[in-house]
Amino acid sequence: MENGIKERKKKVSAENKPVKQRQPKAEGVAEKEKTAVKPRKTVIKVEELYREYAKLSHGDEETESIKVLKGLDFVVKEQEFVGIMGKSGCGKTTLLKTLGLIDKPTKGNLYFCGKETRKLWNDELADIRRREIGFVFQDFYLMDSLSVSENIMLPMVLDKKNVRKCMEKGKEYAEHFGLSHLMKKYPYELSGGEKQRVAISRALINNPDLILADEPTGNLDSKSGKIVIDALERINRKMKKTIIMVTHDPQVASHCKRIIFLKDGVILEDLRRKGASEEEFYEKIIERMKDL
Ligand SMILES: Nc1ncnc2c1ncn2[C@@H]1O[C@H](COP(=O)(O)OP(=O)(O)O)[C@@H](O)[C@H]1O
Ligand SMILES: [Mg+2]
Repeated sequence: MENGIKERKKKVSAENKPVKQRQPKAEGVAEKEKTAVKPRKTVIKVEELYREYAKLSHGDEETESIKVLKGLDFVVKEQEFVGIMGKSGCGKTTLLKTLGLIDKPTKGNLYFCGKETRKLWNDELADIRRREIGFVFQDFYLMDSLSVSENIMLPMVLDKKNVRKCMEKGKEYAEHFGLSHLMKKYPYELSGGEKQRVAISRALINNPDLILADEPTGNLDSKSGKIVIDALERINRKMKKTIIMVTHDPQVASHCKRIIFLKDGVILEDLRRKGASEEEFYEKIIERMKDL
């Protein structure tokens, strides 16, 4: 997508080069210029982000702290598909929970769509979480006592939306992710891949700005994992959603447009896919993973 815009920009500026006899601009070109200059909205901006956990040491009052994130700086713009990689325990989930406003930074700033989150009240944070962020977890976290259809609609119901609208939207997503025939079933009757597609539908139902996924293929066999990553890629490309996804699987990561590698609490590398094919990007990721 980014490359598409770059290409368009290139094309437009080539068309704008001074020519001896300037022709009146075709309407189409003016239209293209308008879309080409439109800046992408910043969804996430973190500045010097720190997260420490207090650890009580036994036998005395002194507290130690575990420093997990040690000063991260990065920006995620709309329609990006960012992967986060790093060794187990390096703070990927901590980072995702912080970006999802479930956890708070110890120090530093986090802006969500331009809002400085540390200045927001807890109920304002909860509103953003419910309406503007969709979560997908490794363990699906579906409600066992609710049917597939009820699970998908849950965020809309919690947001007190019109019931008929909820049903319509729920059906739409179920159809999109091949779940229509499972709407009356319960989570225990589904395969892992089906559960994750229910979770993805639920994450999308409130039409959020951002999807956060923590190892979404981590508990799936490779075939179901492929279906899930293809679904996420479609959500990014076609529905134009911004996605930040933690994964340890280079094959899964190669679907992203950018990978942030974390090591020892800092960003080891911020790798962009640019024009690389999935296979080329996979090779680059494998190479970088050796340094983790
Ligand atoms: N709530 C918590 N309290 C104390 N330590 C925690 C807490 N959550 C995570 N940690 C510690 O922070 C480190 C990073 O954890 P996590 O973000 O889950 O890593 P990852 O997702 O990369 O495997 C680990 O050492 C973990 O034990
Ligand atoms: Mg984790």
